[in-house]
Amino acid sequence: MDYLPIFINLRQKSCLVVGGGDIALRKIKLLLKAQAIITCVSPTFCNSLDDLSKEANLLLIKKKFELSDISNQSLIISATNDSFINESISKFANDFRIPVNVVDSPDLSSFIMPSLVNRSPVIIAISSNGKAPVLSRLIRAKLETVIPSSYGVLAEIAGGYRQKVKDRFSKIKDRRVFWESIFTGVIAEKVFSGRMIEAKADIEKQLKDFNELTTGEVYLVGAGPGDPDLLTFKALRLIQQSDVVLYDRLVSKEVMELVRRDSELIYVGKQGGSDKSTRQIDINDQLVELAKSGKRVCRLKGGDPFIFGRGGEEIDTLSENGIPFQVVPGITAASGCSAYAGIPLTHRDYSQSCRFVTAHLKNGTTNLPWEEFIIDQQTIVFYMALSGANYICEKLIEHGMDKDMPIAIIEKGTMPEQKVYISSLTELPDLLKKQDIHAPTLMIVGEVVKLNEKLNWYGN
Ligand SMILES: C[S@@+](CC[C@H](N)C(=O)[O-])C[C@H]1O[C@@H](n2cnc3c(N)ncnc32)[C@H](O)[C@@H]1O
Repeated sequence: MDYLPIFINLRQKSCLVVGGGDIALRKIKLLLKAQAIITCVSPTFCNSLDDLSKEANLLLIKKKFELSDISNQSLIISATNDSFINESISKFANDFRIPVNVVDSPDLSSFIMPSLVNRSPVIIAISSNGKAPVLSRLIRAKLETVIPSSYGVLAEIAGGYRQKVKDRFSKIKDRRVFWESIFTGVIAEKVFSGRMIEAKADIEKQLKDFNELTTGEVYLVGAGPGDPDLLTFKALRLIQQSDVVLYDRLVSKEVMELVRRDSELIYVGKQGGSDKSTRQIDINDQLVELAKSGKRVCRLKGGDPFIFGRGGEEIDTLSENGIPFQVVPGITAASGCSAYAGIPLTHRDYSQSCRFVTAHLKNGTTNLPWEEFIIDQQTIVFYMALSGANYICEKLIEHGMDKDMPIAIIEKGTMPEQKVYISSLTELPDLLKKQDIHAPTLMIVGEVVKLNEKLNWYGN
């Protein structure tokens, strides 16, 4: 190890920054977060520094750096592009034993600045010893995605209970087990979703009777249309911390790869009402039972759970049974497939509104309000429309839609196997006869489909 990582307290301490450009600005913003009192010396200052000095603990002195500037400073940062000044600052600072950082010059620095993930009071510092700062920033970006932004709040709350926990558990090992159960369990999730009062009440309860079984929680998570990169940060986090995952047929195998290896997987897919389908009522009951046994349950659904996903019915049952739950929206097939097919759902020249329609109703019919679809400048997205596609085209023409209206069928949208078929209302039946198209498919009807020719960017 070439450097010892330490966290330095600069609250109300004088710090000197030499330089007046963007880099100096960045360093000053960091020092301000640490509540330092800053003097910045430079012959010129960028506008942002001028503005910042009006509201922050920052004194700008317009002049060249001189040796006397470093007296009484607790820390110095040199952010100039003048190598002679940088070397002088480094030498003077070292002579006076003041920690110094010369930007991008580890050889002239007594300390280096790490990349930070800030969830104050939790702060993660990443360094590559000044050898690969870009790599440190990439690692930081990865960490940013997996550490919830509200970790800081969780740490603050934990801080408030530190003494009580010490009083309750005399052994360090017991305290560790207690805190692990708080930080990795339902209580942490309550903090992340803003339910502070409930979270604090639960901590109190746990302090009284640590071994008592608490109810688990259900996460109704939208897995998006297939590409795992389209998951939200929150979806990924909840997927990875669940003890059991109940997943649908349309959740892609790439998304399933992200589930924790030791989680229990339960397939609850449906297939157009066939015998292989899991009954909705059984899924609802299973969610309740699993949560009651104290498990963290992820109900993973393709696309968005509230769009043709029966997510509402599932959380209705949870709510009736007093089971805590969270809902994480996902990218619905209409958004994902249209984006990956280069078909904007709205466009100022072609479409001012967009309708999402299911071609399958609860009772198995396709009783749709056809007249409402025959409106100019409207895009209609049909979900679950492959088997009824010919019928839909026929009905739209019958109700007055232009028979040449463009139509797109997107097969396995956002996935590497994605295929986009472009046709028109009259020609689609012919295309379906000639092509071997498989579900899942999404059908987009409207003038915007024409844009695919120019804007298609993904796959075929
Ligand atoms: C039961 S609905 C669920 C919709 C889902 N909740 C959503 O928000 O996307 C299933 C239908 O979504 C559409 N779909 C879902 N994923 C798709 C994909 N990757 N490509 C094309 N269509 C998709 C298909 O029309 C499929 O029949």
